[in-house]
Amino acid sequence: MCGIVGYTGDREAFPILINGLKKLEYRGYDSAGIALEKEDGIVVYKTEGKVSRLEEMVKDKDLSSRTGIAHTRWATHGVPNAVNAHPHLSASGKLAIVHNGIIENYQVLKEALEQDGIPLKSETDTEILVNFIEKIKNETGKNLFEATQLALKRVVGAYAIVLMDADAPGRLVVARKGSPLVIGLGKNKDYIVASDASPIIAQTKTVYYLDEDEVGLLEPGKEMIIKTLDNKKVNPRLTELDMTIEELEKGGFEYFMLKEIYEQPKSVYDSMRGRIHPGKKIIRLGGIEPYENHILEADRIIMVGCGTSWHAGLVGEYMIEELARIPVEVEYGSEFRYRNPVIRPRDVVIGISQSGETADTLAALKLAKEKGALLLGICNVVGSSIARETHAGIYTHAGPEIGVASTKAFTAQVTVLLLLALRLGYLKGTIPRERYEALIEELAKAPDLIEKVLQTDLQVQQIARHYKDMKNFLYLGRGINFPVALEGALKLKEISYIHAEGYPAAEMKHGPIALIDENMPVVVIATKKGNYDKIVSNIREIKARNGRIIAIVTEGDKQVAALADHTIEIPEADEMLSPLLATIPLQLLAYHIAVMLGRDVDKPRNLAKSVTVE
Ligand code: F6R
Repeated sequence: MCGIVGYTGDREAFPILINGLKKLEYRGYDSAGIALEKEDGIVVYKTEGKVSRLEEMVKDKDLSSRTGIAHTRWATHGVPNAVNAHPHLSASGKLAIVHNGIIENYQVLKEALEQDGIPLKSETDTEILVNFIEKIKNETGKNLFEATQLALKRVVGAYAIVLMDADAPGRLVVARKGSPLVIGLGKNKDYIVASDASPIIAQTKTVYYLDEDEVGLLEPGKEMIIKTLDNKKVNPRLTELDMTIEELEKGGFEYFMLKEIYEQPKSVYDSMRGRIHPGKKIIRLGGIEPYENHILEADRIIMVGCGTSWHAGLVGEYMIEELARIPVEVEYGSEFRYRNPVIRPRDVVIGISQSGETADTLAALKLAKEKGALLLGICNVVGSSIARETHAGIYTHAGPEIGVASTKAFTAQVTVLLLLALRLGYLKGTIPRERYEALIEELAKAPDLIEKVLQTDLQVQQIARHYKDMKNFLYLGRGINFPVALEGALKLKEISYIHAEGYPAAEMKHGPIALIDENMPVVVIATKKGNYDKIVSNIREIKARNGRIIAIVTEGDKQVAALADHTIEIPEADEMLSPLLATIPLQLLAYHIAVMLGRDVDKPRNLAKSVTVE
């Protein structure tokens, strides 16, 4: 939800800011803008549309400056247009702000400004915020840093902000609550600050993750000053980034999504590395080891997540219940947080999130913490808000995921959940030794199996050609592959804008079967293990109604192949592994259809990668 970048130092700010915005565009891309410090004040350029449009707009301008801030937006307050785009200037034109988040009490702040007759140009909460900070600054005679502290104490909502002041050249003031902000410290004590580390990595690997309710002052050549809203000094603990620039580039692929689909043998391997020891038949999850007894004694596990991460949770439910016999419930973060859920101290709540910043998941976890539950996180982004909010966790280590549609993060989450289920099952003695060992061996081979599934790419592309003009799709699966059907449908709808629904196959006859005809392709996960005969019956029911079937089957399957219009084979594996394999062709199918329809695969309309607003 919106990407922000700021730079101050001894180098030209513009190239750093614009390249930073390009890295952050996955967070929102309906408008973009930049503010640069000039000798006679702050200049702002902003436009509706993507960062490339902003770049085009400013190409003849004098952009020389060593301090600036920039923004790529996902609209919350006000339509996406140039006026509502960030940066916003205060009424005097002296302060400029970029903001990611939502100011919930903007109406109260607005009324305070209206009483003073301060004019507003946009419909945004952000313009209100910058003017409110200026009002406090003028009224108290404090500097920008202090005025920001005072103002934010009266703000309700979520924000990551970067501010500059024409009267204090070279300085940036940063603050966060609820939305992420990372400060990079360059070699010459120059500073680059951004919503995530991706714009920073090209400049420096030394960073500080600004904490909740902290305000920072960044001035080139000087130590950063970090204080709380209550003016307590904080000693910033610097960390080193462990990502590489290559991980953030497309590496010859047309889209990040395709690159990330192809990275899955490696990302699944990375999510197991150091945790699975096939020779010794052992799984160890260092991050949660101190809490293992607590988990084993839990009355139940509740998993919370949104979108694809919620689907991973559903897969995890099957795995943990089957292998460790602990009751599991899976909840949408957004529903959980608003329905006064029953949570007891013997509950373990697991937050699943690629970004680690999803507002609804984070709020659900905070609620569970208040009620005394043990919180675990399964996050991809190291140091993210959810990773820090939880008592312990297991990072997925899938590497940066840039494509808005989640792919490798999902398979990494599923891998980590299987590791967890196996570890708990082993400790509890609920899984027969033979199966435990066989599953460890199979899981260790999963990267090779995924590699093999990726070889179906061309075939999937041909199938995509047949169906790209369909208006609706149905995805069916049973058991552990029901969430895979949901995930396949989500992938298709979000990047191709084709309506798609996922169902447990047996539910079809309770309603969706009415939709079946030759214009409603049905994608069925029909692997050998797990309810195979039942799903074959479901396929017959569809064929009897002229439905067209794309089936994901186990290698060598003849029965479904004889019924389906198209079959895509995946290697034979334990049922617990089938989500890891069956998902891949569904990702590819969605990808190819979206490309054929000319969609912007990495940046689908109306979406953003990191949903830091509710
Ligand atoms: C779908 C997708 C979203 C996210 C959801 C949660 O492809 O990307 O549905 O899965 O917004 O995001 P995280 O995992 O970052 O909490």
